[in-house]
Amino acid sequence: MNAPSVLNAAVKRDPEKGAIVRQDNRHLIHPQHHPSEHRDPHVWVSGEGVKLTNLEGEQYIDGLAGMWNVYVGHGRQELVDAASRQLGTLAFATAYAGSTHLPAVELAETLKRLVYPNIDAFYFTLGGSDATDSSIRTARFYWGAKGRPDKFKVISRRLSYHGSTIGAAAATGVDEFSAVFGPRANGFLQIDSPYPYRFTTERTDVSPGVAAAELLEEAIVREGPETVAAFIAEPVQGGGGGVLVPQADYFQRIREICDRYDVLLISDEVITGFGRTGKWFALEHWGVQPDILQFAKGITSGYFPLGGIGVSGAIKEVMDSVPPDLRWMHGYTCSAHPVACAVAIANIKILEEEGLVERSAALGKRLRENLAALDDHPHVGEVRVLGLLAGIELVADKATGERYPSGSGVGKRVRDALFSRGLLTRVLDETICLAPPLVVSEDEVDRIARIVIESIVDVTGR
Ligand SMILES: Cc1ncc(COP(=O)(O)O)c(C=O)c1O
Repeated sequence: MNAPSVLNAAVKRDPEKGAIVRQDNRHLIHPQHHPSEHRDPHVWVSGEGVKLTNLEGEQYIDGLAGMWNVYVGHGRQELVDAASRQLGTLAFATAYAGSTHLPAVELAETLKRLVYPNIDAFYFTLGGSDATDSSIRTARFYWGAKGRPDKFKVISRRLSYHGSTIGAAAATGVDEFSAVFGPRANGFLQIDSPYPYRFTTERTDVSPGVAAAELLEEAIVREGPETVAAFIAEPVQGGGGGVLVPQADYFQRIREICDRYDVLLISDEVITGFGRTGKWFALEHWGVQPDILQFAKGITSGYFPLGGIGVSGAIKEVMDSVPPDLRWMHGYTCSAHPVACAVAIANIKILEEEGLVERSAALGKRLRENLAALDDHPHVGEVRVLGLLAGIELVADKATGERYPSGSGVGKRVRDALFSRGLLTRVLDETICLAPPLVVSEDEVDRIARIVIESIVDVTGR
């Protein structure tokens, strides 16, 4: 498609924007690229606190904190200073075995203090997808080193999102991420999500949460426990599921099943880590510890790319005890990038000093109270909130939970209605997702809730 044909009237009206978009269309490939969604893109030029400003000078509340990641808000000078100090001191040095540097050491030490007590050591990646790959490779490595190389399969859940590399997309439970890219990598399978609003079971002997968890046991037994390396799950399914908060007894049962069958539990906390749900890490809500924790996004609030994994003491011990020729042969040039680590340290300092994890819990409650007006709305199936992470699922029929027919355009109309009232966020199918920066004020939380309610009424006519 040639560039000018994708420019719509709005862009043509603004010659500066028109020129930028024309260039963009010519040479830039976007995540989830398609020109049909890029006729009149937002051109963001600056950010301050919870607000983003576009090329036209209009301000919007950043309801998804960028990509669920700008926890401490936009325009934080402390992070600019941390990055610039590090760039001026040591912009890059390798952290491959045989070398290290101070920001990486300090960050690992800081994380040890904040994560689940059993997690002992950390490896840093550039983001969440490579963190997923690192987790999976580590799980397979662990079993191989323990003399069980046939334990290689990875079980995940439908409606999960774990990233877009070959391995992470194979674990992801949304088929569109794999369908157009040829066969999925071998050794990945999925079970149903807990999804309390829609999960049904014929079982009456256990709670729905336990029944949902026992789908994992069924899968492990069916595949053969001697073939299964790990179960990977987001504590709250975000980008694939539309903020699905599991039943309160789900993860405890999952932990028991993993222990019984020697399956490692990987907690993908790329969205839920660092206070997003009102706890530093989200399995804390249910008193469960994973064997591998993976993170990204909020660790630097998006000011510099960084992700990583934390592994249990048992896994670290195996990594340390294999002979050199059988080592954990995994690494990226920019693993533990010094600038990323320095920004992460400064970002975590802000999270701690400003009590943002506690604020996330408190403001999440306020958001939930504000959204209570939707509980009886005929087109709101469910309002899900945990900390400052929320999903509001719209349905055609509240009584039956029937979804809007595909192609109804309801999700898109709601997204536009939110935007026209000054709130930028993602609507996944018909679920409005909210994850504002954790520095959002009480007034801004109230405003976000008001905009959501007005927009739903506007689109559904009720
Ligand atoms: C839970 C989860 N895991 C992994 C990823 C992939 O992270 P990245 O986009 O940084 O590669 C994401 C991204 O949204 C995510 O939400």
